[in-house]
Amino acid sequence: MNVPLLDVNAQNHPIADELRAAFERVLASGYFIMGAEVEKFEASTAEYLGAKHAIGVSSGTDAILLALMALGIGQGDEVICPSFTFFATAGCIARTGATPVFCESHADTFNIDFSSAEACVTERTKAVMPVHLFGQSADMKACQAFASKHDLAVIEDTAQSMGARYDSKCCGTASDFGTYSFFPSKNLGGLGDGGLLVTQDDELADTATKMRNHGMHPRYYHQMVGGNFRLDALQAALLSVKLTHYADYTRGRQQNAAYYLEKLQDLPGLILPTTADGNEHIWNQFTIRVLDGKRDALKQALVDQGIGCEIYYPVPMHQQQCFAHLAPHAKGNLAVTEQLAQQVLSIPVYPELPRDQQDIVVSAIKNFF
Ligand SMILES: Cc1ncc(COP(=O)(O)O)c(C=O)c1O
Repeated sequence: MNVPLLDVNAQNHPIADELRAAFERVLASGYFIMGAEVEKFEASTAEYLGAKHAIGVSSGTDAILLALMALGIGQGDEVICPSFTFFATAGCIARTGATPVFCESHADTFNIDFSSAEACVTERTKAVMPVHLFGQSADMKACQAFASKHDLAVIEDTAQSMGARYDSKCCGTASDFGTYSFFPSKNLGGLGDGGLLVTQDDELADTATKMRNHGMHPRYYHQMVGGNFRLDALQAALLSVKLTHYADYTRGRQQNAAYYLEKLQDLPGLILPTTADGNEHIWNQFTIRVLDGKRDALKQALVDQGIGCEIYYPVPMHQQQCFAHLAPHAKGNLAVTEQLAQQVLSIPVYPELPRDQQDIVVSAIKNFF
C-alpha cells in the first residue's frame, strides 16, 4: 500500500458540497477579485489569530515581499534571517534590493538561533525575519529582546504555523508583520495560491493595504509604488469554508504527531522532533533527524516501500547558487544548519492520514534501524 506524504483530496473531498456552494456563490456574484468574500475572510482570520488587521494577499511569498516593502526596506539595507528555511524568506529580501544575512538555527527546534544573530548585526541591519518552521514558533522572547536591543523591525514568516501558539499568542501577531501562506500543503491549504499579512499597527496596515493594489488610493492615484498582491474572491470563499474545519485539521496533525512520538521513541540513530517550552506545535511537518550519514538510505528505503517523504531542506540558503556572491560563507560557517540539511527527513503527518497507513510508516522506520 502506498502512503503519500500528503493527500489534499482526503481533506477536500469530504467538504466538496460546501466548497461547491462557495464556488456557486462567487460565480453568481460575478465579482472575482477582492470584494466581500475577501473582506469576510480577512475578518475571520483576524479574529481567529487575535490580530488587529488581516490583509488577504496572493501568496505567502507576496505577503513577505509586501511586508518588507511596507516597512520601506530596500537597497543598502540588511535583513537577518535563518539559512535553514524555504527560499521565499530570503528571496523576498533580495527582491527588495536588500541583502539577506543568514544566521544559525537550533538543532532541536529547527528555528532561528538569536545568539548567532548577534554576529550578523551591522549599521545597515533594518529587520530580522524569524521563520516559525514546521509548525512551531521561534523563540519570540529572544526575538523581541534582540530586535529592541538593535532597534530592528520584525517580520514573522508564519507560512507553516498559522494558529500555532507561543505563550498562548498566535504566531505572527507579536511583531510588525506576520505573514502566512495558503499553498495547498500548508495547514490551511487553499485550492491554489493565497496568503495573508497581519499587523497590529494601523499605519503599517494602511500602507500594506494600499501597496497590495499598486499603492493606489483613490482609484488611479498612486501615492507609492506597490504591486498586484490581491487575493481572488474565489480563493477567499474556499478558504473561509476550510477555516471552519481548521480546528479538526490541527487536532488530526497533533494526534498523528503524538502517535509517532510514542511509537518511534528510543531508536538509536534517530532523533525525534521536540516542542519548545511554551509552544503549541501544529505539525506542518513531522521532521526526524537521522544520524550517522544514514538519512539518504532511510529515504530510499521508505520510497522503495511506497512511503512518501521529503527533505525540507537539502540546501541551506547560504549555500544556494543565487546567494554565492553574499558574505563569505565558508563550509562549516553555519555548522548546525549544514548538519540539519544532511540529517532531516519529513514523514507523512497530514490530518487525514489513516492509522493503518501510519503504522506502515512506523514499521518501515523501525525495520530500518
Ligand atoms: C517558510 C515559508 N515561507 C514562505 C513560503 C511561501 O509561501 P507561498 O508558497 O504561498 O508563496 C513558504 C511556502 O511555500 C514557506 O514554507
